[in-house]
Amino acid sequence: MLANVWVKLAPDVSASATKILITGAGGQIGSRVKVMAQRVGYSVTALGYDQLDITDAGAVTKTLSRLSPDVIVNCAAYTDVDKAEQEPDVADALNAIGPANIAKASPDNCLLIHLSTDYVFNGNAIHAYLEEDLPHPETVYGKSKLDGEKQVLALHPFSIILRTAWVYSTTHRNFLKTMMDIGRKRKDMRVVDDQIGSPTLADDIADAIVQITHLATTSKFDTSKVGIYHYTGAGNTSWYGFAKTIFAQLELETGLKIDISPIPTQAYPTPAKRPLFSVLSTEKISGTFDIKPVPWEQRVRETVSKVISMEQNQ
Ligand SMILES: NC(=O)c1ccc[n+]([C@@H]2O[C@H](COP(=O)([O-])OP(=O)(O)OC[C@H]3O[C@@H](n4cnc5c(N)ncnc54)[C@H](OP(=O)(O)O)[C@@H]3O)[C@@H](O)[C@H]2O)c1
Repeated sequence: MLANVWVKLAPDVSASATKILITGAGGQIGSRVKVMAQRVGYSVTALGYDQLDITDAGAVTKTLSRLSPDVIVNCAAYTDVDKAEQEPDVADALNAIGPANIAKASPDNCLLIHLSTDYVFNGNAIHAYLEEDLPHPETVYGKSKLDGEKQVLALHPFSIILRTAWVYSTTHRNFLKTMMDIGRKRKDMRVVDDQIGSPTLADDIADAIVQITHLATTSKFDTSKVGIYHYTGAGNTSWYGFAKTIFAQLELETGLKIDISPIPTQAYPTPAKRPLFSVLSTEKISGTFDIKPVPWEQRVRETVSKVISMEQNQ
């Protein structure tokens, strides 16, 4: 069991009256939001891609008017950063037009929480990015996500854009699980050391979303709090540092030793140019909603342990 993740999420008997709709509910973050929201006792409708295609404006309008939710959490997205370079129209349909469909059809008093990304920045900053810093994406994915943010804020001002980064979990395809899989097949590995960001556990994002939902559906939420927020794990590292922490825990738990060496980005070219520095400041979300990021190393160690114990119980 991950320490602290559930602490603020004791079942709330009055929560059952609050209707939450989650789109993209089968994804890495959406599936965790579903679990956390159900745990609190909200009335949750979680729709995967097969149940609601957010690019289908008619279906979105029909679903939202039928459900009349109090809060919508849009976790649906095109997230293949490299493939997006080859199919910008598909990325745009999902990351910009889809969110616009949801924003247009959202009831006036329904809070729309929309996920976005650190990749809206170009990574040339020398300080942690603030919400008011000017985005300047350099990838198709980043541009489509920025477009989605703008559409949401313009079409449904009662929205929160939650930018996050470097997401992993015990399920789905992600960096932590890929490293664990490769580490078991190879004795040595080279990982990029000059891209800096903040690893973030999907459960913690879901926890933050549920806390915002709680405030938004009680008297504690004042509408001036809408807008853009950043939320990631606390602290930052490189992909190499992230991998080293994963392997240190893997060795501690299983005795498996993996040699890892740092390489520069040029030695591992990818179709999409990643930002070199995409650390997001989380001061605004902490100050406004009292949501405190958890140190990334702690969460990575806990998650490696959890993946191992899940495998042993299979
Ligand atoms: N993962 C990260 O490192 C990261 C970092 C920063 C920000 N974010 C943001 O966080 C959000 C969620 O990311 P994630 O990691 O949970 O991604 P994910 O696991 O790829 O989930 C996205 C979900 O959207 C679904 N989907 C695809 N097309 C759809 C459509 N037309 N209508 C409805 N659903 C559709 C996908 O279904 P299928 O799987 O069936 O296609 C998938 O279940 C995104 O907004 C992303 O930009 C993620």
